[in-house]
Amino acid sequence: MFPQVRLRRLRRRKIIPLLEETRISNHDLIAPLFFDEGAEEAVPIQAMPGQFRWPVRKAGDVVTRLYNAGIRAVLLFGIPKEKDAEGSGAFASDGVVQQVTREMKSICPDMVIITDLCACEYTDHGHCGVIGESCDGPCLLNDPSLEMMQRIAVSQAEAGADIVAPSCMLDGMVSSIREALDDYGHQDVLIMSYSSKFASSLYGPFREAAGSGYSFGDRTGYQAPVPNRREAYRESELDAAEGADILMVKPAGWFGDIITDIKQLGLPVAAYQVSGEYSMIRAAAQNGWLDEKRVVIESLISLKRAGADLIITYFAEEVCRWIHEQ
Ligand code: PBG
Ligand code: ZN
Repeated sequence: MFPQVRLRRLRRRKIIPLLEETRISNHDLIAPLFFDEGAEEAVPIQAMPGQFRWPVRKAGDVVTRLYNAGIRAVLLFGIPKEKDAEGSGAFASDGVVQQVTREMKSICPDMVIITDLCACEYTDHGHCGVIGESCDGPCLLNDPSLEMMQRIAVSQAEAGADIVAPSCMLDGMVSSIREALDDYGHQDVLIMSYSSKFASSLYGPFREAAGSGYSFGDRTGYQAPVPNRREAYRESELDAAEGADILMVKPAGWFGDIITDIKQLGLPVAAYQVSGEYSMIRAAAQNGWLDEKRVVIESLISLKRAGADLIITYFAEEVCRWIHEQ
């Protein structure tokens, strides 16, 4: 009459950890960082409490602190002193990301340096490449922008990036970047493609952080529509076929179905818990409405459960410290 199978047996206090299916390790975490060429001191980002725009001269201190906390990979964003229509700061050999990459490499050679590969922080119009006229009015031109991405990729690799991460959502970005890297002798540099990146409302705080708001239109002309699961899969499928080494789903938390789908392609999958996800949790925690540590761990565990191998999160350093305390 009574149940023979009792799942409550699995919930005995000392049994729970034994049967834990999903865990987070410091090796899964990637910390995004903003470096501002014009800053003298660390500038707090209002919409992302606890995050800063770092001056270039702090690159060594920041990478050392993160490494000591257990972080093994960082994702670099740059804010140039000056922007122009060509986004030339993105591929300058002394550009902000190139300077920071060199500095971090020399101070902390074991840190994996990943560079965000895009133009929107460097163009005066704020779009991810070259702008021109289309049948729908002004828009991002795909193929001319690819040439820009090739130049940025090569300059980041020359500075010492281990992984370049194209986030522009252009068609053919992975194959063209791979070709350029190989032509310049950077066969060992990996490509982590922002392969399934959605036109999401959750990037709001990032635009303040990276100073990358656009002057007209939006990114719906190149980023994937939120309702389209099959289309998001095709985006990653194409990037895999073009030779991406690591795929990515962005944003992360509301896109678990996409992570699970893309896992089937057999490549490592990264999930990007974006600025809006960070700020929602932070703001609620600061008001005392949520327990930050528990919410953050739960959010990351759910990404791993969905199939993420790697997680890019602004909470990375704190999570490392929490893991260490256990
Ligand atoms: C730029 C880029 C964006 C983010 C990463 N790279 C913004 C965008 O696409 O508009 C968002 C990151 C975040 O919100 O944390 N290509
Ligand atoms: Zn961009």
